[in-house]
Amino acid sequence: MEPIWQKAPIAQRDAHAKAHGCVKAKFAVAEGLPPELAVGLFATPKSWDATVRFSNSERIPQSDRTKDGRGMAVKLDGIEQDFVMINHPVFFVRNAADYIDFVEGEKKNDHYSFFFGLRPPWRWRLHELWNGIHIKGHPLRSPLEERYFSMTPYKLGTRAIKFSARPCSSQISTVPAQGDNVLAAMLANGLRNGEGCFEFQVQLQGDPHAMPVEDPTLEWDEAKSPFRTVARITIPAQTPELQNCENLAFAPWHAQPDHRPLGGINRVRKEAYQRISTLRHDRNHVPN
Ligand code: HEM
Repeated sequence: MEPIWQKAPIAQRDAHAKAHGCVKAKFAVAEGLPPELAVGLFATPKSWDATVRFSNSERIPQSDRTKDGRGMAVKLDGIEQDFVMINHPVFFVRNAADYIDFVEGEKKNDHYSFFFGLRPPWRWRLHELWNGIHIKGHPLRSPLEERYFSMTPYKLGTRAIKFSARPCSSQISTVPAQGDNVLAAMLANGLRNGEGCFEFQVQLQGDPHAMPVEDPTLEWDEAKSPFRTVARITIPAQTPELQNCENLAFAPWHAQPDHRPLGGINRVRKEAYQRISTLRHDRNHVPN
């Protein structure tokens, strides 16, 4: 079997350990946005250089042929702003208390007790299980052809939103590839002669009962509030690097005040990303 990960640093990410590529990109805000969208970064049609890391969700690098969620993390240059996304609209944990239950199971290497509580209080979490199965259930396709979602809500000024990156309609179709690192190969194939392109979109919260901030396992209905384009992410033709993003940290709380994360799961993430990233950088003897 071909090596799944070469030249791995000593300490990898605790989640999304395997990258398919680290690419240079442009993040350009759309012109003429209506007032409800022209907020914070999107207030004027500005553009930033950006770095994008595509990844698998698992904490251990494994074959891309094993079912898994796929990540896209975007970092804007010259301003503290990251956008961290996965190729599915909903998460599999509702809140911080449930996250503790999930971690307790994982610590014992028991991946099912969170979903099937076989001891008091006998709590079954079938909705969460359904989401978990679907996060991992997407067919294998190029990282340039996936649609990615924030899953959890963020601010857009005084409003709550979720965000998403959707491949542009002009998306080139990438050549399929073989092997365990098929996604890195598809990404490289796609960027050999063509460019990658995503519409960066936001979905405004409507009715807070139907579109809650505090439960990211529930999808906000796109029929009631569609995702609307506020920027374009362009990835010019290039040879993706594997290592260039490994000493970076992409995190939801790397955000401008107008775009700061909302909800309990994002509050858990504040501490988790910071601590793990510090540990990772310390162990690798590189600045954080
Ligand atoms: C309580 C919930 C969560 C916890 C504790 C958590 C934790 C982490 C940690 C520790 C990392 C590695 C950070 C580093 O070493 O720099 C990470 C990476 C990542 N997480 Fe989460 N996560 C959570 C939820 C989510 C959700 C809801 C998403 C959905 C968008 C997500 C998407 C990602 C992605 C895409 C990366 C990789 C970023 C990169 O390429 O560097 N995570 N997560």
